[in-house]
Amino acid sequence: MSTTLHDPNLSSTLREHRVFAPPPEFAAKAHVKSLEEYEALYQRSLDDPEGYWADVARELHWFTPWTKVLEWNPPWVKWFVGGKINLCYNAVDRHALGGRKDKTAILWEGEPGEVRRLSFAELHAEVQKFANVLKGLGIKKGDRVAIYMGMTPELAIALLACARLGAIHSVIFGGFAAHALVDRINDAACCAVITQDGSWRRGQEVHLKAIVDEALEKCSSVKSVVVYRRTGSEVTMRKGRDHWWHEVMAKAAPECPAEPLDSEDPLYILYTSGTTGKPKGLVHTTGGYAVQTYISSKLVFDLRDEDVYWCTADVGWVTGHSYVVYGILQNGVTTLMYEGAPNYPEPDRMWKIIDDHKVSVFYTAPTAIRACIKWGDQYPQRHKLDSLRLLGSVGEPINPEAWMWYREKIGRSKCPVVDTWWQTETGSIMIAPLPGAIPTKPGSATRPLPGVVAEVVTRGGQPVPVGSGGLLVMRRPWPSMARTIYNDPERYQSQYWSAIPGSYLSGDGARIDQDGDFWLMGRVDDVINVSGHRLGTMEVESALVAHPKVAEAAVVGRPDELKGQAIAAFVTLEGSQKPTPELKQELRAWVTQQIGALARPDDVRFTQALPKTRSGKIMRRLLRELASSGEIKGDISTLEDFSVIARLRESDEG
Ligand code: WTA
Repeated sequence: MSTTLHDPNLSSTLREHRVFAPPPEFAAKAHVKSLEEYEALYQRSLDDPEGYWADVARELHWFTPWTKVLEWNPPWVKWFVGGKINLCYNAVDRHALGGRKDKTAILWEGEPGEVRRLSFAELHAEVQKFANVLKGLGIKKGDRVAIYMGMTPELAIALLACARLGAIHSVIFGGFAAHALVDRINDAACCAVITQDGSWRRGQEVHLKAIVDEALEKCSSVKSVVVYRRTGSEVTMRKGRDHWWHEVMAKAAPECPAEPLDSEDPLYILYTSGTTGKPKGLVHTTGGYAVQTYISSKLVFDLRDEDVYWCTADVGWVTGHSYVVYGILQNGVTTLMYEGAPNYPEPDRMWKIIDDHKVSVFYTAPTAIRACIKWGDQYPQRHKLDSLRLLGSVGEPINPEAWMWYREKIGRSKCPVVDTWWQTETGSIMIAPLPGAIPTKPGSATRPLPGVVAEVVTRGGQPVPVGSGGLLVMRRPWPSMARTIYNDPERYQSQYWSAIPGSYLSGDGARIDQDGDFWLMGRVDDVINVSGHRLGTMEVESALVAHPKVAEAAVVGRPDELKGQAIAAFVTLEGSQKPTPELKQELRAWVTQQIGALARPDDVRFTQALPKTRSGKIMRRLLRELASSGEIKGDISTLEDFSVIARLRESDEG
């Protein structure tokens, strides 16, 4: 492996000098009130990591305490060994049975405008009934349940009910197509699917149940389907397999105690893209995930009992798991869920929701912020936005202009902005400012949270000098880390733990500045980030080559002002095929049908050959350069056939 990092971003010279200290009124009330306090807490977590995490864990409810905090045989880890816990109990029962029973747990707004509020007591009742529904279908601890829904309270209820029983949920994002659903359901041999008739998005109905029906023709493990009626549109129900949510709920017994689960019992599987064509099912377990989502929510969002918290992520992604549902509810805080598009019926929908429901903490993605900038300042200007006290960002590097716009136009220069770095694999936020303690800089995720040991290193594992780019790694295990890849422990080990022995390789590039603040620089592998959605270029390539007219395909990311990265596909066709504009459209539609609209290539370029090394590896670096700048300037000495470059330059643009 070469010693220089291949990603040109890593040598980026972008430097940002603005610094914003926490507002004194904010800091005075915060859980962590000063840089000194953060540093002391951080130091304590370094000196005595097990003591630190045990103290956090004691803030939750355990049926049986653990006997050992950590068992670490790299890369295999166990946290809170021997402890018995239930995450649903911590997220719901604790509050429903205590002082928060009438407090709103879930505040929901549908795209057409309906509003529903579920108190902790009501959520408790629904979750118990739905857990009984699952039991009635024969679902038990360890069984895998696929969830393919829109953003409704029932989605959260479905997750929590699985967690209550110890059934392992596998949420599949509602934007995925039938093919993607088939792969994920079959990989984990799910025995049931929970879905809904449809969901509203930009005034259109997404027909979720119809997509499930199509998928299930190829999924023999699925014995039952539960369908929540959301839109009321017509669906086909297969007798013996499909059940209406409202019918089975009406018959369900009201009480279902939370199962005392082992700390290491699996909680969920969530698929994410890697560097091969096959998505990885990351497995999260119960105790450590509960502990770290709880504390990171509390510290990063500085949660207070009176907060109305809104994270715009879909529960189909890890952000929705950790910071719409589990982390927030464990803190007893009201979580807002919105069903639809941010610009429906007009581009001020998010700001209207914030005013209407007095949202105090708002968490969204840079791509959404950039879209808002494009739509224009008049939309946030129509609204007061004075309930807000804290803003967060997640999913991709945030460019300083977007950060500043967010701070000024949405936060009205009063709210701290927390840029939070983490991954599906990490389960919880790892690097982010604690808003009362850490001065923020536009574009920096600042410091690791207490208990997180992050470093930036060379490919050989040596720390890089201050200000230089390198690989972001974690030097110590953390409670909410993914435990493995479902059915593929070898891939887990080789992907994350073998490049730099003993360290977790994140796949991201970063640098650390003179103050110790982290600046994330994007992926260093063949994973791209399109509108905050992680995609493996190989997945898109596999879909393209599955098309009968395609011989070969190479997919790369290129910078895009709105989406962060856009997808550029270079395609060579089977012998007799003619490159036509219609075929381009056909290929784009094909990928949409195979994976989902989020993977649709932005550019399709037909070319007679792809640049390869002598050993036959596609030189993606060249394609990246060409797709980004229209030119190839870098080193081409390992290229096998130089004439390819000339032919690529001639390839027509999408
Ligand atoms: C990227 C989403 C820069 C990163 C929580 C990571 C970020 C991948 C940030 C994980 C951030 C996420 N700054 N990059 N604040 N947050 N990323 O698994 O490349 O969907 O590896 O988890 O998103 O994406 P995932």
